[in-house]
Amino acid sequence: MNPLRISVIGGGYWGKKVIRETLEVGRTTGSSRLHSIVDNFPESLAQCRQEFGPGLDYRTDYHALATDPSVTGVHICTPNSTHFEVASAFLRQGKHVLVEKPLTLRTEEAYELVRLANENKAVLCVGHIHRFNNGVRELRRVLAEGVLGEVYYLRLRWTALMNPQLQREVITDLAPHPFDICNYLLEAWPDRIACKGRGYRTKQNEEVAFITADYKSGLLAHVEISWLDRDKRREVTALGSKGMARLDCVDQKLELELSSGRQQIPVSPSNTLGTEIRHFYDCIRNNQNATPYSNHSDGILGARVVSLLEASRESMFQDRTVPIQLPIIPAIPVR
Ligand SMILES: NC(=O)c1ccc[n+]([C@@H]2O[C@H](COP(=O)([O-])OP(=O)(O)OC[C@H]3O[C@@H](n4cnc5c(N)ncnc54)[C@H](O)[C@@H]3O)[C@@H](O)[C@H]2O)c1
Repeated sequence: MNPLRISVIGGGYWGKKVIRETLEVGRTTGSSRLHSIVDNFPESLAQCRQEFGPGLDYRTDYHALATDPSVTGVHICTPNSTHFEVASAFLRQGKHVLVEKPLTLRTEEAYELVRLANENKAVLCVGHIHRFNNGVRELRRVLAEGVLGEVYYLRLRWTALMNPQLQREVITDLAPHPFDICNYLLEAWPDRIACKGRGYRTKQNEEVAFITADYKSGLLAHVEISWLDRDKRREVTALGSKGMARLDCVDQKLELELSSGRQQIPVSPSNTLGTEIRHFYDCIRNNQNATPYSNHSDGILGARVVSLLEASRESMFQDRTVPIQLPIIPAIPVR
C-alpha cells in the first residue's frame, strides 16, 4: 500500500499542532507521510523548520502542489478568510482536502467546495474536531439512550480571555464547534436563530455573542462565546426531564446529576486531532471502494455550520430572529 502524501498549508499556531500529529500518524501507521509544509510568511516557515528539522519540503507558495502528482491531499490551516481560495485550488485538481473550521466564511463558498469535491471525485472533510471527542461521543450516547429523559435544552459555553483581534470576530471563529456539537448530539439542525453580540475593546469586531437556536422539537440550545472571559471553558450542559449532564470538552469529563445522585461517566479521552486526521486518511483510502464509507465530518456538514454562522451574524445585525433554511443535498455517491 503506497503511503498517502499529505501537505500541511499554514504553519501557524494550529498548523504546527497538525504537523506534529501528521508526523505522528505517519510514524505509527506507516501508511501516510508528510509531503510538505507551506506558509507564505517566511518567519512562520522558519519556526517550522526549526521545530521539525531539515529533512522536509518547506515552501512559501502552495500553487505548484495542486498539480503535483506526488501529493495525495492537503490539510489547510491558513486563516479563515483564505480557506475557500486554498481549498478550491486543490479540489479543482482532484486533491483530497481537510479544511480547518470554519469551512469557509460564506455559505455559497462552502457549497461550492462541496460541488467541486463531487465533481472532481475528491474527499472534502472539515475540522470539526469534537466529532472525534470521546466525551462528546459519550454524551451523545447518554442522550440517545434517554438517560436524561426528554431533553429540554443545551447550554454551550466556549470562552477564554484573548487579546483584541483586529482581523477576526468571535462568531465565525468560536461558534463552529458549539453548532457542530449540537448537531452531533441532536442529529438535527435548528429552525431559527437569534443572536446578540458586541465588541468592547474592538468596536468593529464582536468579542462576545449569545446565540439561541430553536429546534422543531421545542428544544433550545444556548451558545455563549467570548474572548473576554477569564475562565477558559469548553463546556456542554444538557438538561432534561430526568436530570442533567455536564461535559468538559477539554478534559473529556462527563458527569450526570440524576434523582439518584451524581455520577461520573467513565470516558477514555481520545486524541481528537489525531483521530480526525486518521479519519480523513480513511476517507481517502475508502473513496475508491464500492462499499459505503461514511465521512463523519464532510463538507456538507461544514457548509451547514457556515450557514448557521451567517444566520447568527444576520440576526445580530438586523436585530431579529432569522429562520434557517438548509438546502437539501443529495447523498454523495460512493465512488
Ligand atoms: N479545530 C480547532 O480547534 C482549531 C483551533 C485553532 C485554530 N483552528 C483553525 O486553524 C486555522 C489557523 O488558525 P491559527 O490560529 O493557526 O492561525 P495563525 O495565524 O497562527 O496561522 C495561520 C498561518 O497561515 C499562514 N498563511 C496565511 N495565508 C497563507 C497562504 N495563502 N498560504 C500559506 N500560508 C498562509 C500564515 O502565515 C500563518 O502562519 C484557522 O482556520 C482556525 O480557525 C482550529
